[in-house]
Amino acid sequence: MTRWIDLGIDLALKLIHKGKVRDLYRVGSPDEKRLLMVASDRVSAFDVVMAEEIRDKGKVLTAMSEFWFELLGDRFPNHVVTTRPTSIELGEDLPADFQGRAMLVKEAQMLPIECIVRGFLAGSALKEYQASQTVHGQRLPAGLTGGMKFPEPIFTPSTKAESGHDVNITFDQAAAIVGTDVAVKVRDMSLGIYEIGAQRAKQAGVILADTKFEFGFIDGEIAICDEVLTPDSSRMWEASELLAGGEPTAYDKQPLRDWLESTGWNKMPPPPSLPSAVRESLRNRYIAVYERISGREFLG
Ligand SMILES: Nc1ncnc2c1ncn2[C@@H]1O[C@H](COP(=O)(O)OP(=O)(O)OP(=O)(O)O)[C@@H](O)[C@H]1O
Ligand SMILES: [Mg+2]
Repeated sequence: MTRWIDLGIDLALKLIHKGKVRDLYRVGSPDEKRLLMVASDRVSAFDVVMAEEIRDKGKVLTAMSEFWFELLGDRFPNHVVTTRPTSIELGEDLPADFQGRAMLVKEAQMLPIECIVRGFLAGSALKEYQASQTVHGQRLPAGLTGGMKFPEPIFTPSTKAESGHDVNITFDQAAAIVGTDVAVKVRDMSLGIYEIGAQRAKQAGVILADTKFEFGFIDGEIAICDEVLTPDSSRMWEASELLAGGEPTAYDKQPLRDWLESTGWNKMPPPPSLPSAVRESLRNRYIAVYERISGREFLG
């Protein structure tokens, strides 16, 4: 979707970046450093964007990030200017199809690493552990299995690949990329946010198994950017089922990944087309986990 960009006229919103899920529009002139971040209904898995969309997904992710940004409040600086941008701030009315999926944010100098916190062994960390008994290069005891809780949550950064897959790295490698002071700061912030998120999720009977944050510099200060503690950026499990020793229901992208793997797809575009049952199931899980954790009703 191209909006204004090709018109060569100085309109208020200009598309400057199309990510896998979010579109970024510049608001006003570059020195105002304001972006409108619009979450689409696109879904990606294994770094490939699916052809079909998940209805309302962008709205659920926006509502969930909004909830967390409010809950985290001033404890951690973040990029939000307002989650309800007005025409005065935007210089034009918010387009109808952006309603509920747009946030006005401060433009940040993004750090070129992804800040992952893992409370439980899963995903790429589990694959790495099974291959080499390490997690992000750190040696762990033998005999761990998927779904096990780490004694303490661990900070496990990765590269932020411009294209292709992110690569798991050690803390020292992250420090070599962003500098030790910054690496220490984002590690401590990540662990702090995870702790608050995991505790809140636990009250709702949900395990926040792991999550990924993106930070950036805004006016010389490190701030949480992008989305925060959503089912797109996290693994969220049904706590009671994990405690009972079973495979927990996942309120995240896992059912989509499982379905894609079951098709034998080689993870290269084009992806297989998603049956409506897979799409509806994902939509329902995202809404359910949002409503449970936030205590708010999803209004669409
Ligand atoms: N405040 C901000 N200032 C500048 N960039 C931001 C800000 N918040 C988020 N971003 C960037 O906006 C993009 C959001 O798009 P999305 O989440 O769809 O990206 P992605 O597909 O995960 O990654 P990529 O953008 O590399 O394709 C990310 O590149 C993210 O780093
Ligand atoms: Mg992203």
